Amino acid sequence: MYHFDEIIDRSNTDAIKLKYRKDIFGTDDVLPLWVADMDFRTPDFILNAIAERLKHPVLGYTAVPDNFQSVIADWVYRHHNLKVAENAIGFLPGIVPGLAFAVQAFTEKGDEIIVQPPVYYPFMNVVIKNRRKVVYNPLVKKDNLFQMDFEDLEQKITDKTKLLILCNPHNPGGRVWDEDSLKKLAEICTRHNIPVISDEIHADMTFEQYTHTPFANTSEEAANISVTYMAPSKTFNMPGLIASYYIIPNEKLRNKLDTFLDKNELRGGNIFAYEATLAAYTQGEEWRRQMLGYVQKNIDDVVAYLQENIPEIAPMIPQASFLVWLDCSRLGFASDDKLVDFFVSKAKLGFNRGTMFGPGGENHLRMNVACSRTIIKEALNRLHTALK
Ligand SMILES: Cc1ncc(COP(=O)(O)O)c(C=O)c1O
Repeated sequence: MYHFDEIIDRSNTDAIKLKYRKDIFGTDDVLPLWVADMDFRTPDFILNAIAERLKHPVLGYTAVPDNFQSVIADWVYRHHNLKVAENAIGFLPGIVPGLAFAVQAFTEKGDEIIVQPPVYYPFMNVVIKNRRKVVYNPLVKKDNLFQMDFEDLEQKITDKTKLLILCNPHNPGGRVWDEDSLKKLAEICTRHNIPVISDEIHADMTFEQYTHTPFANTSEEAANISVTYMAPSKTFNMPGLIASYYIIPNEKLRNKLDTFLDKNELRGGNIFAYEATLAAYTQGEEWRRQMLGYVQKNIDDVVAYLQENIPEIAPMIPQASFLVWLDCSRLGFASDDKLVDFFVSKAKLGFNRGTMFGPGGENHLRMNVACSRTIIKEALNRLHTALK
């Protein structure tokens, strides 16, 4: 059995959630449940793989290992029934950087790129910073679940629309997209010749009762317009290693991204990212299952506690991953600033502000529950006490 109850002091490690806590929240005394990494110990098979490599005294220039692609192909087939040729897989130095690369490889300045907010905020940032235009196709809430709005999507597409960035599963809503929605999305994007970047970093954290559907698996046409990004980094709590990869079956699209990576000398990764990826995908299954079981229980506890004690806060039940999207509108704060101020100053909680995720984020906060149950209890108690 692995243990997830341990509380590990991350101060003095430059952990982002601590280092920038004061800048973001104006104080150091909030519980930092914002940045989407886990406070769990990075599993031993990862630490051991790195330690093993460190026994060799030379950390010289190192190529991608020969079995990198086959190990990934095997993992995505066994976990997601995604059959890919090994040459469709390539190392990517981070998914957010990969999004910025895709924006530059597939579009020109001034082109329109569609995102579906509320959504992981770098989706918008990489578009804006590269001087393309963000076009919103907002998600709609039905039965406390996000749904795509295809009518709105059709209306938003113009001849300047050159890319759509999909979050599958979805952050912050934890939605594991259903096959029909993805198929429909593929049909529309194929008709308009729009490639889809499907960010599937949360796929391996889909809870047991749901099934992750890779966008590329929904139809032949979907595969043909798909640029899938995946990573072991978030699932195995090693995002500091920058370990991720793309899967692009369509040779033309793949060449476009590869050309961009070559041109900018971005092909290489680092020794530890390679070693850790191989270790995660060959030794990590049991840890992954146990970690998900622990996170699921944390989510259940949060949901039950809110229902019983603070019914004004409505959580969206995540179908994947460790982020809980909290609808706080019934708390009745006059503005998002007031809501955040209450959480920070009164409850001493550092959650992500919903408006970071774009339209639809108003009156919401995002809570990270990948930490010891003791911390979750402390967070809920702080909230309850502040509200009383
Ligand atoms: C949807 C999504 N994509 C990408 C990332 C980060 O990817 P990377 O650390 O590889 O840049 C996150 C982290 O929260 C995420 O939620």
